[in-house]
Amino acid sequence: MKTVIGTDIQQAISLLKQGGTVAIPTETVYGLAADSTNEDAVLSIFEAKGRPTSNPLILHFPSIEAIDPYVSDFPEELKRLATFFCPGPLTFILPKSSLVPSIITAGQETVAVRVPEHPMTLELLQQLDFPLAAPSANRYGGISPTTALHVEMQLSKRIPYILDGGACQTGLESTIIGLAEKKVIVYRLGGISLEQLEAELGYVPEVKNELHHGVRTSGMVKYHYATETPLFFMNPKRDAYTDKDGFILFSKKEHQNTKKAAIFLSEGGELSEAAKNLYAALHEMDQKGYARIFIEAFPNDRLGKTMNDRLKRATAKFS
Ligand code: TXA
Ligand code: MG
Repeated sequence: MKTVIGTDIQQAISLLKQGGTVAIPTETVYGLAADSTNEDAVLSIFEAKGRPTSNPLILHFPSIEAIDPYVSDFPEELKRLATFFCPGPLTFILPKSSLVPSIITAGQETVAVRVPEHPMTLELLQQLDFPLAAPSANRYGGISPTTALHVEMQLSKRIPYILDGGACQTGLESTIIGLAEKKVIVYRLGGISLEQLEAELGYVPEVKNELHHGVRTSGMVKYHYATETPLFFMNPKRDAYTDKDGFILFSKKEHQNTKKAAIFLSEGGELSEAAKNLYAALHEMDQKGYARIFIEAFPNDRLGKTMNDRLKRATAKFS
């Protein structure tokens, strides 16, 4: 199969209506989309990614109102957050309605839903009469794509079309939340920080993002988001660096005189700028043929906490 990269929304629509898979831009990462109500189309997402069908998918909608028929309840506490943060990088785990096929939810009674914030994808969703199922458009276990080229690197010849909407603005996957005993629980850290949620909720939501918590997101898998090149958190007191090592450093300002072969994630130490550049830096470093990649840990708050969480899973394979 030939993979075309383009900006033709009508072509994307026509492929999706025929049951094809199309990579779509969102504010978080590129998604690999298909008609969520067409089981064969959904199966071809799993096939293209090499992802086990035991791992459920997020449904994408053009608006909060469009979600209603696909869920049997949308509790007030969560709807309030939706009204505040959506479109945006926040995903809700809700009880599903009978319109959601069980292939989407891996047999669970809950479904993950979100309204992505990207003009091309919102227009696409508005013109379709079904929600799009879309996991991140990477091969299973790999780094999420934040440009059309990243998608091509991983899924070339496996999908017909990549809708090119430029570089993703947030650069980290959506935050996944649900409600338990009237309290918001965070199942995956993401592009909306705990601090942002706290400001709306009046309390710090509990984070349950490890496998032993019993719930079920790929953000919890111990090895994930991984590079091919061995990746480690930098620890200058412990590490013995050689000139075969590549570095990903947070703030250029803090490393004015470094002689290391490095990519800087931010000029002045801005977490949101670093988040936008993180996956591209991992993709780029992974291509350069270094023996090892060392990355600086982030301050452990706001999006720094999300990035540290991703890197903990990406480095786990190598330690
Ligand atoms: O930002 C994002 O969320 C991106 C863009 C494309 O929207 N999508 C994304 O999808 O990150 P994916 O499949 O890579 O990660 C979705 C996570 C998975 O870990 C999955 O296990 C979890 O959502 N998930 C989906 N449905 C669920 C459910 N019913 N209950 C619990 N977790 C669920
Ligand atoms: Mg993913």
